[in-house]
Amino acid sequence: MGIMDGKSGLVTASGGGIGRASALAFARAGANVLVSDIDEATARETAELIRAAGGTAESLVADASDEAANLALVQAVVAHWGRLDFAHNNAGIGSPNKPLTEQEGEDWERIFRINVFGMMYAVKHQLRQFLRQGDGGAIVNSASTAGVSGSTGLSPYVSSKWAVLGLTKTAAAEVAADGIRVNAICPGATLTDALQGWKESSPDAYEAVASRIPMRRMADAAEQADAAVWLCSPQASYVTGQALAIDGGDTILGH
Ligand SMILES: NC(=O)c1ccc[n+]([C@@H]2O[C@H](COP(=O)([O-])OP(=O)(O)OC[C@H]3O[C@@H](n4cnc5c(N)ncnc54)[C@H](O)[C@@H]3O)[C@@H](O)[C@H]2O)c1
Repeated sequence: MGIMDGKSGLVTASGGGIGRASALAFARAGANVLVSDIDEATARETAELIRAAGGTAESLVADASDEAANLALVQAVVAHWGRLDFAHNNAGIGSPNKPLTEQEGEDWERIFRINVFGMMYAVKHQLRQFLRQGDGGAIVNSASTAGVSGSTGLSPYVSSKWAVLGLTKTAAAEVAADGIRVNAICPGATLTDALQGWKESSPDAYEAVASRIPMRRMADAAEQADAAVWLCSPQASYVTGQALAIDGGDTILGH
């Protein structure tokens, strides 16, 4: 028995990184998973990995910044498995690293279009489906530890992740009485493929960053995924509107 047995849902940006780990973890926990990514090939690959491990998955290409694509994802889950029980809205991009005095509006717009507007469209259409079904549902949004503190040079990313938490908490309050839960994970630095490559090629630079984290290491993507699954599971049935930092204690120190 898995904690998500019989549940159906979707994970955005699950062609790689935390999203792929999340899709795999939801499937391992027993859920039917719609994998989606802007990259069709990697989305298909994640779905194949799930099926090869004995799970149930379909894939659909989707630009997470697009409202129609977010609606289509909800409709696809319902078409495949009859209902939507959970969603992990994970898509998000980073920003150029430079002081605010040198930032350009077009970068802010590009980042906000995916990290904030896309998240809003996703939550909007998922909540509409939950409300139509009338028996609850759970959402987890990927924010960041950058959503609970500042970070020099990353003003558009930091601001977008604070917005994700504002959206998460407001949505949670609006639908709590309907038995629907909306939470966020706030990953600290996580060893996705890109960062894993950097760790291997630049071990000293990795150690310098890791040594500032209380647990002295970065997270595995699977550690973020397990938290996302738990937040969407019946085990978290009284948890809503929360921003759960999975960061090896990084936010304790507030740097
Ligand atoms: N990796 C970290 O250290 C870290 C830390 C804090 C927060 N986060 C957040 O976690 C989430 C996932 O991060 P990650 O590092 O795993 O991502 P990533 O950079 O590894 O990308 C994962 C996937 O996102 C897809 N993608 C990019 N733009 C998309 C779009 N418009 N629509 C759909 N898919 C798109 C890519 O094709 C890729 O497969 C993001 O919201 C990110 O901000 C990551």
